[in-house]
Amino acid sequence: DTPLRDLAAAKGKAIGTAVTGSKLTGTYGELAGREFNWLTPGNAMKWGSVEPSRGTFDWTEADQIVDFAEAHDQDVRGHTLVWHSQNPSWLDNGTWTPAQLRRLMTDHIALEVGRYKGRLAAWDVVNEPFNEDGTFRPTLWYNGLGADYIAQALTAARAADPAAKLYINDYNVEGVNAKSTALYNLVKDLKARGVPIDGVGLQAHLILGQVPSTFQQNIQRFADLGLDVAVTELDIRMQTPATDAKLAQQRTEYEAVFKACVAVSRCTGVTVWGFTDSDSWIPDTFPGEGAATPYDANYRPKPAYYGIVTALGGT
Ligand code: G3I
Repeated sequence: DTPLRDLAAAKGKAIGTAVTGSKLTGTYGELAGREFNWLTPGNAMKWGSVEPSRGTFDWTEADQIVDFAEAHDQDVRGHTLVWHSQNPSWLDNGTWTPAQLRRLMTDHIALEVGRYKGRLAAWDVVNEPFNEDGTFRPTLWYNGLGADYIAQALTAARAADPAAKLYINDYNVEGVNAKSTALYNLVKDLKARGVPIDGVGLQAHLILGQVPSTFQQNIQRFADLGLDVAVTELDIRMQTPATDAKLAQQRTEYEAVFKACVAVSRCTGVTVWGFTDSDSWIPDTFPGEGAATPYDANYRPKPAYYGIVTALGGT
């Protein structure tokens, strides 16, 4: 069977997966290397992972994933620099003046982006800046620095690695809705102001039966701004146990998501948020739900895998 990465490459698309560094051996490592041409560290590059105590750094897992990717001729999407979650407690619990906060943010970006300069294809610079209604999420960054923290972060990232594509990444922005329209207006404004922004990441943590009908139209409107669009964290969850009927529906929905990306030339590709049900965040976060990825927990390809094959023109 033709690996997914070869089918995707023939269409000029990336196919990625989030990975956990410690698992990159055995069957998990074989599949991650064989089927995908992009990797995203699921947790390894988050601030809380790399600087657990102030000034004390741990790059072990992040380095391991980047080394693995280079050995397998894969691109890496850095994830993520400026977020409200999974920050170190010293950062969350500190009291900072705006000037201190800005310095912390830009120093962090300079250090982490600089460490991997020339080795990463893209960065999720700012993650999840919006509320569902399209207002800015009141995070430590927004509360301290105002909405301009986004432009400041992008500018710092560009300075640290001019070759990396810079993204803003969010969830529930796959269809046309208030939140995706806020993202649209933000990136349109950033571009007009000359702030470095290359693309938007649509996470796509989807629910079976609820794939937005406006997915392709939404990708297209961002592309029409002159931006790249990446589907960055796809999974499609269901109530467990999975049945044949649900898995068949999931196949159709995976196929539809990949087809929407294939249809828009500026859609760079699709990354799944874990490729096996044994390495998915869903059961921990949504008890009673799961089976959200293309491989089952025993690394057998599910119908969803073959939906991807079909969308990528394979047989
Ligand atoms: O590493 C510890 C381990 O030592 C401990 O024994 C265990 C006990 O719970 O927890 C482990 O940490 C967990 C970590 O994942 C690694 O497995 C954290 O509790 C858990 O909260 C963390 O969840 C991650 C989540 O982000 C946090 O928000 C998921 O793995 C990760 O897939 C998920 O990814 C996010 C994206 O970054 C942004 N978009 C949404 C997506 C899903 O939440």
